[in-house]
Amino acid sequence: MSKMAKIDCEGHELEFPVVEGTENEKAIDISALRKQTGLITIDEGYVNTGSTQSGITFLNGEEGILRYRGYPIEDLAKNCDFVEVAYLLIYGELPNQTELSDFRDSIRHHTMLHEDMRLFYNGFPRDAHPMAILSSVVSAMSTFYQDSLDPHDPEQVEISIRRLMAKLPTIAAYSHNKSEGQPFAYPQNDLSYCENFLQMMFSVPCEPYKADPTFVEALNMLLIVHADHEQNCSTSTVRMVGSADSNLFASISAGICALWGPLHGGANEAVVSMLQQIQEDGGDVDKYVAMAKDKENGFRLMGFGHRVYKNFDPRAKIIKKACDQLLNKLDLDDPLFEIAQRLEKVALEDEYFVKRKLYPNVDFYSGVIYRAMGIPVGMFTVLFAMGRLPGWIAHWKEMHESPSKRICRPRQIYNGPNVREFVSIENR
Ligand code: ACO
Repeated sequence: MSKMAKIDCEGHELEFPVVEGTENEKAIDISALRKQTGLITIDEGYVNTGSTQSGITFLNGEEGILRYRGYPIEDLAKNCDFVEVAYLLIYGELPNQTELSDFRDSIRHHTMLHEDMRLFYNGFPRDAHPMAILSSVVSAMSTFYQDSLDPHDPEQVEISIRRLMAKLPTIAAYSHNKSEGQPFAYPQNDLSYCENFLQMMFSVPCEPYKADPTFVEALNMLLIVHADHEQNCSTSTVRMVGSADSNLFASISAGICALWGPLHGGANEAVVSMLQQIQEDGGDVDKYVAMAKDKENGFRLMGFGHRVYKNFDPRAKIIKKACDQLLNKLDLDDPLFEIAQRLEKVALEDEYFVKRKLYPNVDFYSGVIYRAMGIPVGMFTVLFAMGRLPGWIAHWKEMHESPSKRICRPRQIYNGPNVREFVSIENR
């Protein structure tokens, strides 16, 4: 027998089923609440609201656990490549050799953009933010690939998954090339996913290019740790848009827009700007910690805090280690990394941060690695989007495959004016 939760609601005792997940997380299923009582629940920012049941990612913010399809993030980051993890997220199981090489091949055959799509880039201003370009071009995929828009046709969904996985790095690299005034490099299908991306970003026609294997390895790890994070803002956006049966390209484009925000994926860009600001201001870390604690100031330490993690973000641990290794290997003495380390130490020991359980998050160190790789700040969130793509796809697919799928349509409590008499314009 399923467990029930009793709620006293305006003098009536009501019972609602308790839903229990495989990791013993519990929720009260209030789907019958309005029907039974006429009441709804209010939960600004959805802090207590589960929007769905999902079998993709488990995270426990109190203990700092993150697993994709049951596999700890630490194991995946150490042993897999990004395409393998993408397969795991989207299809639920780690692929065997044949499945993986088929998946890789099918992605490779879609890496080029339609030539007319390349012309879009001429229309964007040179200083356009690459996230704006990314979301626009992904949205435009719905116009070029009209043969794969039906969310209810599994074959069409499969082809749009491959098109997105294959073309996102090309679209992303071209937005960088555009901002640099460099020619677009065509994809090279004999290269790995990450090598190909770096080749499209940095190669020029006048000289040979070979991606540094250290960078390839670091990029692979970064894409893996960003690949999914259950019902975060952008993933919930993808699900929300997809719930209206909008096609996959349109849904992912919306997710990219959500990710762009500085309170979400845009934080990695904001972290480096903040570190630069501290450096230019003389490197006084304490001053910035004090500013972050001052409620009148409004300044926040970018890269600290998380809605769910009230412990060290396990992804931040992995990235920090990789960051140390990369900087040592490259013998780079990045002053921003030194400031980041001091900031982390001060904040971790400061009562304000300790009390509120504000730990460095995934964005805190990723920016430093991207900098070391020569990736411009404006591209940081674009790389996050490349990593998050398989997670978005997995959630969109899971939602469509669920027999209980419904359009997402929250309610509200209206608190505006009561009915008023219309006043004609000349009397206002
Ligand atoms: N610096 C200083 N104080 C902070 C910070 C911070 N970075 N983050 C939270 N706080 C404080 C808040 O002022 C609040 O204090 P109070 O209780 O005295 O009012 C308390 O900690 C709780 O913060 P909330 O804003 O309620 O936490 P919420 O869960 O809504 O926000 C968020 C989480 C948006 C990540 C927040 O911590 C933040 O703005 N961090 C900086 C931006 C950032 O790094 N974002 C990336 C998140 S990871 C990702 O999206 C991939």
